[in-house]
Amino acid sequence: MFGARCMCLFLRRCSSVPCAKHAASTKLLRVREALEVQDPTGGDVRVQGWVHSVRSQKQILFLHVNDGSSLESLQVVADPGLESRELTFGSSVEVQGKLIKSPHKRQNVELAADNIRVVGPCDVLAFPLKYKTRHPPEYLRQFPHFRCRSNSLSALLRIRSEATSAIHSYFKENGYIHVHTPILTSNDCEGAGEVFQVEPANEVREPGENPHFFNVPAFLTVSGQLHLEVMAGAFTKVFTFGPTFRADNSQSRRHLAEFYMVEAELSFVESLQDLMQVMEDLFKKVTNTVLSKCSHDVELFHKHVAPGQEAKLEQMLKNTFIIMSYTEAIEILKRARQEFTYKPEWGQDLQSEHERYLVQHCGRIPVFVFNYPYDLKPFYMRDNEDGVHHTVAAVDLLVPEVGELCGGSLREDRVDFLQPRLQRLGLEDTYQWYLELCRFGSTPHGGFGMGFERYLRTILGVENIKDVIPFPRFPNSCVL
Ligand code: 4AD
Ligand code: MG
Repeated sequence: MFGARCMCLFLRRCSSVPCAKHAASTKLLRVREALEVQDPTGGDVRVQGWVHSVRSQKQILFLHVNDGSSLESLQVVADPGLESRELTFGSSVEVQGKLIKSPHKRQNVELAADNIRVVGPCDVLAFPLKYKTRHPPEYLRQFPHFRCRSNSLSALLRIRSEATSAIHSYFKENGYIHVHTPILTSNDCEGAGEVFQVEPANEVREPGENPHFFNVPAFLTVSGQLHLEVMAGAFTKVFTFGPTFRADNSQSRRHLAEFYMVEAELSFVESLQDLMQVMEDLFKKVTNTVLSKCSHDVELFHKHVAPGQEAKLEQMLKNTFIIMSYTEAIEILKRARQEFTYKPEWGQDLQSEHERYLVQHCGRIPVFVFNYPYDLKPFYMRDNEDGVHHTVAAVDLLVPEVGELCGGSLREDRVDFLQPRLQRLGLEDTYQWYLELCRFGSTPHGGFGMGFERYLRTILGVENIKDVIPFPRFPNSCVL
C-alpha cells in the first residue's frame, strides 16, 4: 500500500523520508483538489494542512488532514513507523506520498504517505479546540485567532468567500460598474449621528491650526450611497461592496459596529418596483449560486446549526416576494392578536418585533414594505407629496428571523424639493455638491443597500450576526 522509499542521503526522522529536493519537486495539491481526483493513478503528490484526527492501529496509521479548502478532510494512510509524538490533533503537517483509490466507501481517494513532516507542533492539552468536539458558537467566539480552524467557522468563511464572488458576478453580468467608495468621508449619509470620527492618534496641532487632520471632521463611512450616486451620474449602473461602520450602541444579534454592505445605484429609474426587482433577483441568483457551489458547507448549517432552515430557504426562493405599503403594514400590526413591546402607530419606525410579525403573517415569504413616513427618513429620499400621511419612496426588504435585510429608496432629484429640505435640516452647506448633481444632467435614480452579514444569517439560519463575520466588532469588543 505504501509507496517506494526515497533512497537519498539526506534521511530525516525515519528511513522513509525523502530529501528536500525530492519533496519540493513533488506536485503540491490542495485537499479539495486531491479529493476531486476521480481516477487516482498513484502519482506522487504533497499535501499541506492541519491534522484533524490521528488514529493509530497496529498495522496502519490514519490521519485526516485539512487545509481549509474543503469541509471534508483528506484521509492519509501510513505505516505506523511514521508516527511521532508531535503528530497530534491541531499540528500542521506536510504529507508526501501517492494518491490512490480508497478501499473505503466514505471517500474516493486517500493519500498513502511516504513521509509525514510535522511543520508546527500543537500542544493539544492547551489548545482551545478539542478533538471530535462540536464547540458552541459562544465558546468559539472567545478564540477569534483559532475559530477559523473549527468546521463551522471554516465552512462559513468559504460560503462567505463564494457569496462575495457571486455578488460581484451578479452585478458584472447585469452591466454594473464596480466602484471603490471611500472608507473615510466627511458626510453622515444616513444622518443618524452613528458615525465614528477619525483623527490621528498622536498628532499635536499648533495653536491656531485647524483642529482636524482633514480640516473638517472625518468619519468612517456609514454607507457608500452618496458616492455611488455621483458615479451613477456617469456610469448609469454602479455597485460597491465594502465595510461600513456604525457607532450604534447595540448588543443585538443583528447589529455590528463594522459590517459589509452591498450597495447598488441605478440612474433612469422612476419606480420602486424596479429596485425591488433587482433586490429579489440579487437575493435569489446569489443564493442559488452559493447553494450549488458550497453544497457541503451549506449542508453543515442546514443539518446541524439550524435544522429546518433548508425548507425555510426554499420557501423564500420559490415564491415571489410580497409587496405591501408601510400604511398596510401598520394596519396588519394593529389588527394582530400579539402584544408588542412597542405599540404599532403610523409615523413610528417598525421595530424588529414588528418586522418579524409581518414576515410570519406573509407565510415566511420575504416582504417589501414601501412608502415610509417622510419624517422618519434621511434627506435624500424622494418626497411622495401625498398629503396628511406624508411619505417618501423608500423600501425595506424584510426576511424571516432577521427582519430588515435591505433598505433602499428613490432619491430626491428635484432641486425645489431638496433645497428647502436641506435648509430645514441645516445641511445646505454640507450638501451643496449634492444639489449641484440635481442641476447638471441629473436623472431620476435610486438604489439600495443589503447587509452582507444579515444576508448570510438569512440563508444559513445562524442566530447571531457575530458568527458570520471573521472578526466581529461590537460595543466593548474589538479583539485582535
Ligand atoms: O438601511 P440602511 O441604513 O441603508 C443605507 O445605509 C442606505 N444608504 C443604503 C443605500 O441605499 N445604498 O442599511 C442598509 C442595510 C440594512 O438593511 C441592514 O441589512 C444593514 O445594512 N445594516 C446593518 N448590518 C449589520 N449591522 C448594522 N449595525 C447594520 N445597520 C444596517
Ligand atoms: Mg434601514
